[in-house]
Amino acid sequence: MNRKKKIISVVGARPNFMKLAPIEREFRKHKHIFTHIIVHTGQHYDYRLSQVFFKDLDMPKPAIYLGAGSGSHAEQTARIMEGFEKVVLKEKPDMVIVFGDVNSTIACSLVCSKIHHNGGTIPVAHVESGLRSFDLTMPEEVNRIVTDSLSSLLFVTEKAGVVNLLKEGVNKKKIHLTGDTMIDSLVHYKSKINRSLILKKLALKENTFILATIHRPVNVDNRESLGKIISIFEELSKLALKYDAQSKLVLPIHPRTLKMAETFGLLKRFSAIKNLQLVEPAGYVDFIRLLVGCKFVLTDSGGIQEEATFLRKPCLTLRESFERPETLEIGTNTLCGLNKSLIIAKANEIFTGRYKKGRIPKLMDGKASRRIVNAVKSFF
Ligand code: UD1
Repeated sequence: MNRKKKIISVVGARPNFMKLAPIEREFRKHKHIFTHIIVHTGQHYDYRLSQVFFKDLDMPKPAIYLGAGSGSHAEQTARIMEGFEKVVLKEKPDMVIVFGDVNSTIACSLVCSKIHHNGGTIPVAHVESGLRSFDLTMPEEVNRIVTDSLSSLLFVTEKAGVVNLLKEGVNKKKIHLTGDTMIDSLVHYKSKINRSLILKKLALKENTFILATIHRPVNVDNRESLGKIISIFEELSKLALKYDAQSKLVLPIHPRTLKMAETFGLLKRFSAIKNLQLVEPAGYVDFIRLLVGCKFVLTDSGGIQEEATFLRKPCLTLRESFERPETLEIGTNTLCGLNKSLIIAKANEIFTGRYKKGRIPKLMDGKASRRIVNAVKSFF
């Protein structure tokens, strides 16, 4: 490398931040060869969905904040594109790194693929590439496919991702099986997580509560599925109390879910569940502490399925499709959809100690970011 390379990492939504943090640390170690700039699109703007993560993950404030905010998919994506194009034209980065599968990811990779400088487009590196749910009704699946097709470096978290990309005709040379940087964060912040006071704050006892998170549009944006989820909670709450009179169900509620529950007039049913504790979205450290301390997690998040596998915590996933097969085949995850009887059967297994224990996949070793930054070095 004959001159320092300028790399922009662009993040926007909650699941991006813990994937960026270990990469930012790794770039800091290579200051002599890289100038690393963080751009935040502003897709998520609430303190609890955004700033708290920068604080928890000891990340510097983003150098550039686009303030894109919420809106329809087209509005949000377009606003991010407009803002990011100006940044790219001014900064002239040598590479842009995008994360995961949110609207910020697709918007910024599209911008780079249409700008020409130094005789070519701006290379995009995609962290968490290759995952496929094969469900095109998920906005994330569209974001993944488009981003991968535009990327020059594809950093894949598990083997199935490599297979997916090869099937789509991606050149093998662009693909790097690195593992997930989100797990690097879990490894790095272990002691900080242990020091979190969230259990005390919420009056929760170790291993006596079920943690739940729901926010997928398919689950919360229509009355019927949100209603089904509430009835699953009602049933689980009764079951948990049968095993332990102290037990609780803890739901850090996503703003989308809260808004939809209000719209459908379903909040009352949530509040009527005796041992359900509705809490605000938790920051990174507190959320992982809740995950470590819970009996099991019920979720429709992608990342939590991996985090639960790494922590060997039972995870029941409220989705029909999946894109992280290792968590099911090797890890602690079970795909349940909104099938109440399956969820209750699995919960019974967990309460009676018969649920699978799971193993930790090989690449969950805390070194994904090192592998990624090394690949970026080799690229230049
Ligand atoms: C987005 C991602 C999803 C990811 C999730 C994590 C896309 C297409 N979806 O979904 O993959 O799992 O983030 O949270 O990119 N809102 C706030 N405050 C905020 C942000 C949003 O109140 O800081 C509310 C707004 O009413 C907004 C709604 O939440 O309309 C949805 O936000 P949006 O960013 O569109 O999608 P998420 O559901 O958060």
